[in-house]
Amino acid sequence: MRIVLLGAPGSGKGTQSQRLVERHRIPQVSTGDLLRAAVAKGTPLGVKAKEAMDAGRLVADDIVLGMIRERLAEPDTRGGFILDGFPRNLAQARALDALLREIGQPLEAVVQLEVDYAELSRRISGRRTCADCGRVVNLLTSAPGEAERESCPKTGKPHRLFQRPDDNEATVAERLKVYEQQTRPLVDYYRAQGLLRAIDAEGPVTDVEQRLQAALQRR
Ligand code: AP5
Repeated sequence: MRIVLLGAPGSGKGTQSQRLVERHRIPQVSTGDLLRAAVAKGTPLGVKAKEAMDAGRLVADDIVLGMIRERLAEPDTRGGFILDGFPRNLAQARALDALLREIGQPLEAVVQLEVDYAELSRRISGRRTCADCGRVVNLLTSAPGEAERESCPKTGKPHRLFQRPDDNEATVAERLKVYEQQTRPLVDYYRAQGLLRAIDAEGPVTDVEQRLQAALQRR
């Protein structure tokens, strides 16, 4: 299975990718995660990317495309992959098409996760990530205290939860604007290729997962 999950910040791309990874045993390739890892390591690429990420803008295409080219050359992607947060604009989508043609691995589906603007902002404001295992939780949708009580599989201690630096109100507003202007046009791009499947991504995570599975089985 070679797919793209397309959707605004907070639409659940990462959450649903994780579930697909478990179900289909194929890797999630998230440009956001790859960029955050480069920022954390302080690599030259990370230093360049950080400024754009903190401002809610897209990181330069050449940086992101270089990372994707390297990642898709790794052997674990031969059996398929889930692209999460990539491509983000038409130039990236065209470059991805060319790369996948070159390696003989064309996309099979692009699923658009549709979520109302107010719900996106709500989800993002409650998102927290464990600094040790990377698990993403939501303080607003989980039972009170549940996320804090859970123990981390890496340390055996309670999760050390932090809020992503780009999850503040001003940056989120910019990220949503960038999505509308630069990423939403991909809906028409992939519809024209016959690859697009849109699903309602509101409601419980398990319901969204079922809609996603059904969309992937549609021919
Ligand atoms: P990236 O990391 O890709 O962030 P994003 O696209 O803004 O998406 P998010 O991670 O915010 O949301 P998500 O859809 O994964 O939602 P999640 O599952 O976490 O990008 C960050 C930055 O990196 C960009 O701004 C840019 O600067 C740069 N970048 C990345 N890729 C790039 C590219 N290709 N080109 C250039 N620059 C790039 O869910 C959100 C919350 O909601 C969580 O708390 C979750 O628990 C909760 N939740 C999920 N599903 C549900 C549900 N059904 N009901 C209730 N809560 C739910």
